[in-house]
Amino acid sequence: MATKETSSLHSVVGLLCLLCLIHLSLAYSLKNCSIIYQENPSAEVALDCARRKLVTIPDDLPKHTVMVQLGENVLKKIIKDDFCDMSKLSLLNLTSNEIASVEDGSFTDLVSLKTLDISSNKLTNLTSNMFQGLSNLIELDLSENSITFIHSSALQPLVSLQTLDLNENGLKEVADIEPILLLPQIRTLRLTCNQFSSFETNDLPLNLSSSLKVLGISSFQLETFSIATPIFPYLQKLDFSGCGQQYSELQWDIPDKALLRNITHLYLTHPGLSFEDFQNILQSFESLSHLRLAYLDFEKGLLTTICQIQTLRKLDLFYSDLTSLSIEPCSQVTEIDLTLNTITELPKGTFQSMKHLRSLNVSLNSLTNIPYDVRSLEGLEVLNLNGNLISKLTCEDFEQTNHLAELYLNYNNIDNLEKCVFESLTNLKILDVSNNLLQAFGNTFTTSLQKLEVLDLSHTVLTVVRICDFQDALKQLDVETSFFGREKCNSSSELNNLESLDIQFKLCNYDNNLEILHTTSQDDFIHLKSMKRFTVICNNADQGFNTYKAKASSFRPLTFLLRAMENLDTFRGVHVHASHVGTFQFNSQLKSLTLAKTDLSDLNSKFFLSVPNLQSLDFTENNITSLEFLVQAELYALRYLKVTDNEINVIDDSVLKSLPSLTYLDLSNNKFTCGCSNSGFIQWVKNNKQTQVVNAHQYKCSFPVEKQGTFLLDFDIQPCMDDGRFFFFISSTCLVVLTLLTSFIYHFLKWQLVYTFHLFLAFLYDSRKGKKQDPHQFDAFVSYNVHDEDWVYREMLPVLEGEQGWRLCLHHRDFQPGKPIIENITDAIYGSRKTICVISRHYLQSEWCSREIQMASFRLFDEKKDVLILLFLEEIPPHHLSPHYRMRKLVKKRTYLSWPQAAHPGVFWQNVQRALQTGDAVAENTDLLTGT
Ligand SMILES: *[C@@H]1O[C@H](CO)[C@@H](O)[C@H](O)[C@H]1NC(C)=O
Ligand SMILES: *[C@@H]1O[C@H](CO)[C@@H](O)[C@H](O)[C@H]1NC(C)=O
Ligand SMILES: *[C@@H]1O[C@H](CO)[C@@H](O)[C@H](O)[C@H]1NC(C)=O
Ligand SMILES: *[C@@H]1O[C@H](CO)[C@@H](O)[C@H](O)[C@H]1NC(C)=O
Ligand SMILES: *[C@@H]1O[C@H](CO)[C@@H](O)[C@H](O)[C@H]1NC(C)=O
Ligand SMILES: *[C@@H]1O[C@H](CO)[C@@H](O)[C@H](O)[C@H]1NC(C)=O
Repeated sequence: MATKETSSLHSVVGLLCLLCLIHLSLAYSLKNCSIIYQENPSAEVALDCARRKLVTIPDDLPKHTVMVQLGENVLKKIIKDDFCDMSKLSLLNLTSNEIASVEDGSFTDLVSLKTLDISSNKLTNLTSNMFQGLSNLIELDLSENSITFIHSSALQPLVSLQTLDLNENGLKEVADIEPILLLPQIRTLRLTCNQFSSFETNDLPLNLSSSLKVLGISSFQLETFSIATPIFPYLQKLDFSGCGQQYSELQWDIPDKALLRNITHLYLTHPGLSFEDFQNILQSFESLSHLRLAYLDFEKGLLTTICQIQTLRKLDLFYSDLTSLSIEPCSQVTEIDLTLNTITELPKGTFQSMKHLRSLNVSLNSLTNIPYDVRSLEGLEVLNLNGNLISKLTCEDFEQTNHLAELYLNYNNIDNLEKCVFESLTNLKILDVSNNLLQAFGNTFTTSLQKLEVLDLSHTVLTVVRICDFQDALKQLDVETSFFGREKCNSSSELNNLESLDIQFKLCNYDNNLEILHTTSQDDFIHLKSMKRFTVICNNADQGFNTYKAKASSFRPLTFLLRAMENLDTFRGVHVHASHVGTFQFNSQLKSLTLAKTDLSDLNSKFFLSVPNLQSLDFTENNITSLEFLVQAELYALRYLKVTDNEINVIDDSVLKSLPSLTYLDLSNNKFTCGCSNSGFIQWVKNNKQTQVVNAHQYKCSFPVEKQGTFLLDFDIQPCMDDGRFFFFISSTCLVVLTLLTSFIYHFLKWQLVYTFHLFLAFLYDSRKGKKQDPHQFDAFVSYNVHDEDWVYREMLPVLEGEQGWRLCLHHRDFQPGKPIIENITDAIYGSRKTICVISRHYLQSEWCSREIQMASFRLFDEKKDVLILLFLEEIPPHHLSPHYRMRKLVKKRTYLSWPQAAHPGVFWQNVQRALQTGDAVAENTDLLTGT
């Protein structure tokens, strides 16, 4: 009992402490960063602190963060305390700041860091202890700084480093990079655009051997490149890319071909190399498979030299002044990339014998036709012609390219797609015709391209697109049109596999769209069962795609399409008026809803009742003035809520209470009132532990006028509390604590309380009467239950009063009427020498009777007088007494007589007489009077 009470006491104390702690701990909304929302609720914390004009690292980054984006701020230095205790951090991005110094030991605690990006800063000097502690770092980006000096021990801690990017720095001497080459795990080193005037391995220890696989090196001034020692036995890729177009002579010195035997990838985009230079360089390699060249002059037959490399598989030619070229002899090549030249034509024969060609990229050139040879490239799988001037496709263009799987024709001038053009492309999966002048495509997509899965028709000038214009294999369709619907569709195509549909309407004019989206009857219902993502964008800013303002009897085109998408997961509408209550009535699976740039001021909470699974809601720019509509929306699963750029003044507490799962709330750019009407919200932002209020510290006041421009969270809510609310808060807190305590005490200390109460009564009695030493009015007070009255009057009274002559007090007979019962009992017990309790089951159940026992036993306790005589009328097994454990204790210790156990009534009454005769002193061994 005692231990139970103590532990309960501990838990109450603990509870109270917990309440204090919750109040004292830090808020969940960060001052200068936001926690990136992730669909998986148990994902680890990732922070976005980029582009916030930060001058120093914020001091409230949660210690268990795994990723921090701090790019594009104005940080000037990193100091020791900036990242202390962040032992879980795995990625730190400090790109595009003004960091000129990193204090020694700043990263010591980052034992889990794998990626560190300090590119585009102002570092000049890698100091000795700068990277201390980064033993797990794998990737380090220091490009675009002004590093001229690397301390010999600066990189020593980086025992796991695999990739180091030092592009665009000021390194001058090869000896500077020695510590890098000695890193045990180093695989990739980028040194493009530094200030080496020569790169000679003879400047390094002769026995040095590095694990590098990829080396990038170049410089404006590079004049000598010499590898004369077996320093790079594992090197596979040498990137000799230039820095812009500056011309320089290059002396290339590789005395032993075996030294570069394992290089397979060579990028040689160094401007100004002569034909002889190229020939010289290419001769150093034995097993090139990927060659990238740029700034070339082809007139001297360079291609012939290149095509003699039998191991070559991939050839890239960039930035060269080619109007046309012939690569015919390179029949071993499978991939050709001719991006960004000035090619106007690839005449017949260019690729004629290239039977192995699988990928051809001629994007960003000036072609006006599909190259003639494409039609015969039977093995071609990927063709990229984006960004040319092609206007016409002919029926022969793809005659035999029936292995083609991906075709990119975006950003051209194509205005029409004849049915015959794609007839051979029976394996095409991806077709991009976006950003063309396309006006029509007839039945192209229904008669050919049976395997087409992804079709991009966005940014075109199409006017009519119908569901029956496509085949069942289609999974993803992006389209811009004036009308989208099912008019005059009589094919059975239902786009059963369509998962993603993105429609941009040129002009969302209700009356015009209505016509085309019309369907004749409800029976003619379409099924888009696989649809997961649906986006509708109206490109006209003024008029919404109006489903709501139509008369009730009118057809609602958007609702009609949505009705077919019973498994829809994500809907996004821009300039789309879709706030009618029934809009999503058939989309109960919807998890993510975005409505932007429309008027949602009339939104009703019933709107959400059909989408109970909604997890993410984005209502950007909708003229919303209040979030009241969420109160009855029953969005119990909602985790992400973004209502930025609206007209909200006040957030009511009831809104916050109605969203139990909310973890991310963004209310940036609203028109907050800084007054007591928002004090509840302000307090919640500062104290709640579940919901991040994104950028809350930057929210500004719009009202009242005198507070305009000040910060919402700076508003002092104390005066609001004082006007009654604070009192209410304190008093309700007290009430709660009091209730807790009372119920605790009642539960665990009930007996002690009653006991104390009676002691108090006894004390009162003592001080009133006891001290007078009244001679006892009665010999015994008889306490019994009415059910046993019969026995008392028939059996007990005749013997004790009649035969033995005791004066007894019976409450029916002797209690003073009109006196409180408890006082009568007290008087009776203290006015009698003894108290006889007639114990039966009824007696034990009766509240008053057990009080009499209690009182008498207090007298025993209080006056040290043994006044109790227990007469058991029935056999009551001890375990039945256990609820009345006080009684059990008494029975164990005190006089008791059992009527049923008595051998003879005479003996029983004799024992009672003896008990009544005994003195008041507490006898130690009174256990004998059992009557047996
Ligand atoms: C973080 O934000 C607070 C409040 O907006 C601002 O006072 C503070 O200067 C910011 N901290 C940094 C490091 O910029
Ligand atoms: C760092 O941030 C920039 C944008 O601020 C981004 O482009 C870059 O990819 C990031 N780097 C890493 C390693 O995440
Ligand atoms: C690099 O920085 C250290 C410490 O700031 C300094 O002692 C050293 O002179 C610097 N070295 C160079 C080459 O600037
Ligand atoms: C390279 O040679 C130097 C002496 O010239 C020696 O101190 C060093 O340990 C050697 N390194 C290796 C990796 O053999
Ligand atoms: C170089 O390549 C050959 C064949 O690809 C290979 O067997 C050898 O191990 C490689 N050498 C090194 C040092 O990686
Ligand atoms: C929002 O309201 C303003 C005037 O109150 C109006 O000019 C604007 O067009 C409305 N914006 C939207 C998206 O309805």
